[in-house]
Amino acid sequence: MDLGIAGRVALVSGATSGLGRAVATALAAEGARVAICGRDEARLAAAAEQVNDAAAAYRARSGGAARPAAGAGRPVRDPVRADRVDLRDHDAVRRWVDTVATDLGGPDIVVSNAGGPPAGPVTAFDLAAYRDAVELCLLAHIGFVQATLPRLRAAGWGRILLVASETVRRPRPQYGLSNTVRPGLVGYAKSLVPEIGPDGVTINVLAPGYHRTPALTRQFDDPAASLARIAAGVPVGRVGDPADFGATAAFLAGNQAAFITGSTILVDGGASL
Ligand SMILES: NC(=O)c1ccc[n+]([C@@H]2O[C@H](COP(=O)([O-])OP(=O)(O)OC[C@H]3O[C@@H](n4cnc5c(N)ncnc54)[C@H](OP(=O)(O)O)[C@@H]3O)[C@@H](O)[C@H]2O)c1
Repeated sequence: MDLGIAGRVALVSGATSGLGRAVATALAAEGARVAICGRDEARLAAAAEQVNDAAAAYRARSGGAARPAAGAGRPVRDPVRADRVDLRDHDAVRRWVDTVATDLGGPDIVVSNAGGPPAGPVTAFDLAAYRDAVELCLLAHIGFVQATLPRLRAAGWGRILLVASETVRRPRPQYGLSNTVRPGLVGYAKSLVPEIGPDGVTINVLAPGYHRTPALTRQFDDPAASLARIAAGVPVGRVGDPADFGATAAFLAGNQAAFITGSTILVDGGASL
């Protein structure tokens, strides 16, 4: 299926690892021009290499420069753009968006992803920890959307994806901060829908279940045993591969997903049943 995003400009935050990196790779594999950010220089370089490989594979498949999507500007030739940006720094985010827009055009696709809050029951955290979680899991995403929205609306086409967690659907006692803060993203997205719908812009929340990423595996002393235990409780019988998540995001970023907005899409192998 051609998703129709070749030549579209995609911004993916928190893309130096795990799910964000997989989304950036999936979008590049569809011919989108991808700009990624994160805070760690070395991880940023490694992720850029992976996304570049996906872009090169797309170019090889499509016989050179990509056919630009309708209204999407220039052909796909440049390598991925990678910048050090902390998503909680709203001024830096605005500068990043402006620079990418100047250099590449767009943006057309905005994927807001960052790290999660620490795990633990709700009683384990003081108010400062709750404030930090609000900064990272709520305000950082809203700031990113605010920085991009005028351009998406003016272009008359746009896709916004907010990466949250399955905890927005089924709170898990061991993720108290996530349970408390992340549902705010769902309310934000749903509230935006009627304002931006007429401009051709959709917004959806992606709610990942357990995926095999560094963030998950570093929670366990014995990752192999813990992942096997988790997999046993997932109806499809395995932990998610980040590529599963990337493919879902790429579909939602495409033309065929034009009628999906305000939704919370679980990507969890059925675990939250
Ligand atoms: N994996 C799962 O099983 C799972 C399940 C449910 C929910 N989630 C949620 O999904 C999101 C992604 O998870 P993941 O597993 O892919 O985590 P990950 O492997 O740790 O990746 C997190 C990414 O976010 C970046 N990041 C963190 N803080 C940032 C900030 N302030 N500004 C910019 N970038 C930032 C990190 O890069 P730098 O360190 O370079 O900045 C990294 O690229 C998280 O919110 C996580 O809680 C994951």
